[in-house]
Amino acid sequence: MWWKSAVFYQIYPRSFADSNQDGVGDLPGITQKIPYLASLGVDALWLSPVYPSPQFDFGYDVADYCDIDPLFGTLTDFDQLVATAHHHNLRIVMDLVFNHTSHLHDWFKESRQNRRNAKRNWYIWADPGLDGGTPNNWESVFGGSAWEWDELTGQFYLHSFLKEQPDLNWRNPEVRQAIYAVMRFWLERGVDGFRMDVVNVYYKDAALRDNPLVLGSGISKGLRSYDRQRHIYDRDQPEMEQTLGEMRALLDFYQPPRMMVGEIMGEDTGIAARYCASNQLNLAFNFEFSSSGWRPRNFQKIVQKWESTLGVDNWPCYVLSNHDIVRHVSRYADGPHAADQKAVVAAALLLTLRGTPFLYYGEEIAMRNVKYAREQIQDPFGKQFWPFYTGRDGCRSPMQWSGAENAGFCENAKPWLPLAPDFAERNLALQQENPTSIWHQYRQLLAIRRAESALQQGEFVPLQQRNVESMVFLRQTADETILVALNFYGWEVTAHLDQPLPSGEWQTLYNTLAEQPAPAYVPQTLILNAYQVAIWKRKP
Ligand code: GLC
Repeated sequence: MWWKSAVFYQIYPRSFADSNQDGVGDLPGITQKIPYLASLGVDALWLSPVYPSPQFDFGYDVADYCDIDPLFGTLTDFDQLVATAHHHNLRIVMDLVFNHTSHLHDWFKESRQNRRNAKRNWYIWADPGLDGGTPNNWESVFGGSAWEWDELTGQFYLHSFLKEQPDLNWRNPEVRQAIYAVMRFWLERGVDGFRMDVVNVYYKDAALRDNPLVLGSGISKGLRSYDRQRHIYDRDQPEMEQTLGEMRALLDFYQPPRMMVGEIMGEDTGIAARYCASNQLNLAFNFEFSSSGWRPRNFQKIVQKWESTLGVDNWPCYVLSNHDIVRHVSRYADGPHAADQKAVVAAALLLTLRGTPFLYYGEEIAMRNVKYAREQIQDPFGKQFWPFYTGRDGCRSPMQWSGAENAGFCENAKPWLPLAPDFAERNLALQQENPTSIWHQYRQLLAIRRAESALQQGEFVPLQQRNVESMVFLRQTADETILVALNFYGWEVTAHLDQPLPSGEWQTLYNTLAEQPAPAYVPQTLILNAYQVAIWKRKP
């Protein structure tokens, strides 16, 4: 299947390219950059939401699932984008936000009119609890109770995120049919797949039972009371299996094949794996790299765990950065110099693992997370928890195309978020001129992945199980073997391999240490220089 060998690139449309000079990126802006994306060597683009929205959660609050927000363009612009992308062999994946709508969606406007309204049961309404307070103890991911009192009709409605994002009632068959119609609408328009927002949150316990508290949990479990509950009743309900089955059948009806990748909330990758099955999601993101310290053994453990949890029938999917988390270069850095070297090690890891990699815009030039002052913060999540948590704006700064005004993101407008302060030194134009830049490393690694079937399909065979001070592994098919060696540290590291390398001659596909010959014989130790990345292929 194409999505197994594809490399995906996530675009946050507000911040990618502004064609109409209003300070916000848009669809024609993305279309103009399609030749660039094709030349980078990625295969598919995931667009964060571009539907009409009051933008309380920057598009993750959808007011109409079957149109484009004028901020981003029109349906004609969208068709143009799909056609241009397809012309360049790039696929398009839309973000579907179906746990909730915007409070300004017509469905919700009707639902809140009165209790007898035909759409009343499209959302989750409930009477106060016995104490006259909220119906139960469920908390919003963004802070505070998940219940909002509605004065007009005298009931509470549920919102797992902002109060401007009321949760749909998935138990209502009319809701499901309306949602499936939305999916068909985009599939008919030629989109190649979907990224399913918080897909394990759709169903909630029908009896609205209280979540139990995490034992011994104090403030140490996190700032949010959401993190101090065990989410057994407000997500991961058994009904989801059948719903995903219906969605999958809908997708499988189309040719060429379409796909869906799910965002599963929670830290338990065992739960995420359950949603990947032949009749459910094609892929589920594994987010564990985002909370892992920069140690090779951590990464190897995550990969081995994910491989064994998914089993042979399911396909892994990895991500280092996205629009919700601190950019990985900033997360892993312990100094400005090492940050760039770590960026290359991380890129090589992501692009040589068995599984589908998702890149995040700007990652290919190692864009840093930006620190914004309080008055610059836009993200509602950041506003809520400031100063303990400053939100997600830092990873959403405008793309750094060049050293021109506003980094070439827009010309005569004020960008919706200020540019990163380093854009004059860190931008695409400069990196394209410099053959040793991170951008050139990404491009080379992407080209190698595209050329080597062992990197796309091969088995993952780690060569060290103890004393994992570096990551050394094979990617192996019946006919091809590729050896990957990654030193995460700024000093020389000796890798003692558990098993001798397969015999034969090796050819260098990639080596940050240009003058080093490929291993000539069968060593059981590899000496790796500071931050060295090497990829060798066994000659047939
Ligand atoms: C997902 C999105 C995030 C959004 C939330 C609510 O986690 O990735 O950006 O705020 O869902 O829709």
